[in-house]
Amino acid sequence: MKIKNICCIGAGYVGGPTMAVIAQKCPKVKVTVVDINEQRIQLWNDPDVNNIPVYEPGLSEIVEEARGRNLFFSTDVEKAIDEADMIFISVNTPTKTYGIGKGMAADLKWIELCARQIAEVSKSDKIVIEKSTLPVRTAAALKDILDSTGNGVKFQILSNPEFLAEGTAVEDLRNPDRVLIGGDIDSEEGREAMDALVNIYASWVPKEKILTTNVWSSELSKLTANAFLAQRVSSINAISELCEKTGADVNEVAKAVGMDSRVGPKFLKASVGFGGSCFQKDILNLVYIARSFNLQEVADYWEQVIIMNDHQKRRFAANMVRTMYNTVADKKIAILGWAFKKDTNDTRESAAIYVADYLLNEQAEILVYDPKVTAEQIYSDLDYLGSRSNDANRQAVTVVNDPMQACKGAHAIAVLTEWDEFRQLDWQEVYDNMLKPAFLFDGRRLLRPDTKREIGFEFYAIGN
Ligand code: UDX
Ligand code: ADP
Repeated sequence: MKIKNICCIGAGYVGGPTMAVIAQKCPKVKVTVVDINEQRIQLWNDPDVNNIPVYEPGLSEIVEEARGRNLFFSTDVEKAIDEADMIFISVNTPTKTYGIGKGMAADLKWIELCARQIAEVSKSDKIVIEKSTLPVRTAAALKDILDSTGNGVKFQILSNPEFLAEGTAVEDLRNPDRVLIGGDIDSEEGREAMDALVNIYASWVPKEKILTTNVWSSELSKLTANAFLAQRVSSINAISELCEKTGADVNEVAKAVGMDSRVGPKFLKASVGFGGSCFQKDILNLVYIARSFNLQEVADYWEQVIIMNDHQKRRFAANMVRTMYNTVADKKIAILGWAFKKDTNDTRESAAIYVADYLLNEQAEILVYDPKVTAEQIYSDLDYLGSRSNDANRQAVTVVNDPMQACKGAHAIAVLTEWDEFRQLDWQEVYDNMLKPAFLFDGRRLLRPDTKREIGFEFYAIGN
């Protein structure tokens, strides 16, 4: 089966970059990315590619090359579905905020809407691919909806989990560790559909890196991969607290541990806590699935990864308050970095949101600088928590475009995202413009302690 037309529903952090790279690598395939969010699509179509709504190093260049040739962004969802041989579903699946599974299970509302729309519109056979992170057995639900509401059209459902990390999405897509495709390996049609997707990826990914499995293995692998990664971060963060008590240095410990080839050096960086749209959501999902099968020990085991992460964010903020003589009321605190990691404008579950919220509850005055996150996003993240009125958030938090401005007259600075530019700041000038004692809290182990202490800062870093 030769694929000529691909449609992707959802032009977000996953759909946008993934389709841009597919379009670049398969110039003969027409790729249309659709979204119901008009403003988002308008930005993807902005003549100045620097204004696309997802910030990822290298992405604007690819969009510039492929857009209008074989890459299109549109709000006409029905037309794109109708024309496509292959449909990627890449819509958001946040944790449920209501009803059964509230706070744990993934909300499949948007997925279901997509499935119903695909069933309604389709006039020819299609391969439907779940690309969002989804709980195990979503593919089965998709199949149910498509088969029972469709008009005799045949659908093959594949699971193709995305492993890209934000901030390095383009590189991860161009050069993946592996591509995972789950499908109905027991049927001829299932295998054909899987082959069609394998062939798309094989345009640039070596065949031995493309794994095919049954659907459920594919879905569970995604959750498990993220749970393992998050678990490493929580493990090193647990040790960071012990380091602070004992005089060990968590970076030294991480290096020594990571040099064991069985452990490996990646994902051992202590931090103020992991964020992002996947880790927490996927582990909550895993916990929910385990509980629903009455596997209490399995559920409790993985839940501890999240408990540790929440503790790390809280303890960082609590330490700030304690260090500053047990009160930050009316004190100016500069937050450097709001994104959940560097090189992205995504703020979902960012530790900065929770640290800021804690400090606001202690009545601090907050100034925020982030090179890529808008003021609108920062306020919306705080409003979403519902800890105080929207007005109160705007009164207590000021968002500025210049790190120096954020730090001027501040009692303390908290570095919460590891943006490279924070290393290059003129820290002497920052210090000169602050109130004394000038407190500097490094939640990312980004800055050199010795030089900051020489300048005169009261310097605190995670795990040191
Ligand atoms: C993750 C997975 O890495 C990716 O494979 C999956 O597709 C989606 O979820 P992402 O959330 O984009 O990707 O970023 P990642 O690099 O994994 O970082 C997640 C969080 O962990 C960030 O807040 C990051 O700062 C933090 N982290 C990561 C640490 O605190 N220490 C580390 O050593 C690594
Ligand atoms: P992710 O990180 O998974 O890509 P995002 O929230 O960045 O998540 O992107 C998901 C996108 O899916 C959003 O832009 C949202 O508007 C879009 N979306 C959600 N439901 C639908 C739908 N039924 N039809 C089209 N687009 C949708």
